[in-house]
Amino acid sequence: MDKFVIHGGKPLFGEVVISGAKNAAVAIIPAAVMVDGVCRIENIPMVSDVLIQLEILRELGCGVRVLSADTIEIDSRGLNTSVATSDLNRKMRASYYLIGAFLGRFGRAEVAMPGGCNFGGVRPIDQHMKGFEALGAKVDIRNGIVYADGSAGLRGSTIYLDVASVGATVNIMLAACLSEGQTIIENSAKEPHIVDLANFLNSMGADIMGAGTDVIKIRGVERLVGGFYSIIPDQIEAGTYMAAVAAAGGSVLVKNVIPKHMDCITAKLEEMGCEISEEDDNIRVTRSGAMRKIQVKTMYYPGFPTDMQPQLAAALCLAEGTSVVTEGVWENRFRYSDELRRMGSKIQVDGKVAVIEGVKKLTGAPVRASDLRAGAALVIAGLAAEGTTEIEEIGYIERGYEDIVEKLRKLGADISRVNFDDVPPIAKAN
Ligand code: EPU
Repeated sequence: MDKFVIHGGKPLFGEVVISGAKNAAVAIIPAAVMVDGVCRIENIPMVSDVLIQLEILRELGCGVRVLSADTIEIDSRGLNTSVATSDLNRKMRASYYLIGAFLGRFGRAEVAMPGGCNFGGVRPIDQHMKGFEALGAKVDIRNGIVYADGSAGLRGSTIYLDVASVGATVNIMLAACLSEGQTIIENSAKEPHIVDLANFLNSMGADIMGAGTDVIKIRGVERLVGGFYSIIPDQIEAGTYMAAVAAAGGSVLVKNVIPKHMDCITAKLEEMGCEISEEDDNIRVTRSGAMRKIQVKTMYYPGFPTDMQPQLAAALCLAEGTSVVTEGVWENRFRYSDELRRMGSKIQVDGKVAVIEGVKKLTGAPVRASDLRAGAALVIAGLAAEGTTEIEEIGYIERGYEDIVEKLRKLGADISRVNFDDVPPIAKAN
């Protein structure tokens, strides 16, 4: 079993380079199956969710070439199936973007229901289905497979989303860009990765306007053609390193970010007492004095992102006073709180609200990640804690953080990835 072992209590200093955005990459890669040509995509984060998705495309018959550490080429000209039901599809969330992509390209799709992080609540797809149906597809879920049949022809339509869902916005945008006529998505998601997907599709010949606002207009085009695209930096990865500095102290230059995307996170870290300065595409974060309590509620972009909630909560465990963290996007996203309590934090959860009474120090403990961002929160707590923290289920963390161990080591952290099956039994007993 692989674990992260962290000897904490060391402030972080130096520079960290942020990778491409995972949630943009996992939308853009399936979008490439609609392209009649070769797409070269740069700034790809080589995290396990992305690698699984590339494997799914290979299984389907697409040409996938890795050109360098962060550049790939996808050639979907040979693709002739609209069925993606292998086990790999169940291993991640974003495999369901193939429904929209196949509907766009073939007018039909048969795709396994997705897996992905389970925060403890349900992850419905009713808004995706509503969108596909509005475009004229018949959608049905049987035996764990989504069947979408638009063979009678997909036509643009106006779709009002009941929730500003990232996934539904992506899936509808994909299906609509090769449908006939104009589609309008009202109350669409505005997250940076939505804009990135729209930019990718437009650079391949799509006609999408308004991405980044809550009304997206898509005029269907005949075909998409190949081209180059570079993915935006990962807002959440950057925010995670910033929260790590808040928790552990120190001063770090976070490189390759879009500072505008970071405003919602920067504002809260400043309120907690961090010093933050921007310079072109870099942000310096410094925490030398004590941290202060804050109140924060997660919201859709440009609000404070739910994907940063666990990491910020980990830092708040060490702030002076009592903080209140409210989850405004997901039903439940506090499964990490039991683990943080093992490390000495005083965190109480009631429904969508966590009340965190700051403590003077955290202490290392054996803990287990329950999902990607929960795992990131435990890494942050481990970096700040006195003593040794061992984190299990690190596969969750590696779904979304490229080279996290190396990046943190360069900042002076004492963290390693250890395979405990390799440790002799005598050492294990100690
Ligand atoms: N929702 C519905 N019906 C739907 C879809 C969503 O009610 O058909 C609800 C959800 O239950 C939730 C809210 O809408 O309460 C938002 O869900 P959304 O669809 O926006 O989430 P998602 O597309 O499944 C993406 C990210 C998540 C991130 C959320 C919110 C990807 C692959 N995943 O998920 O990222 O938390 O948006 O920003 O883009 C992560 O990276 O750790 C992660 C979980």
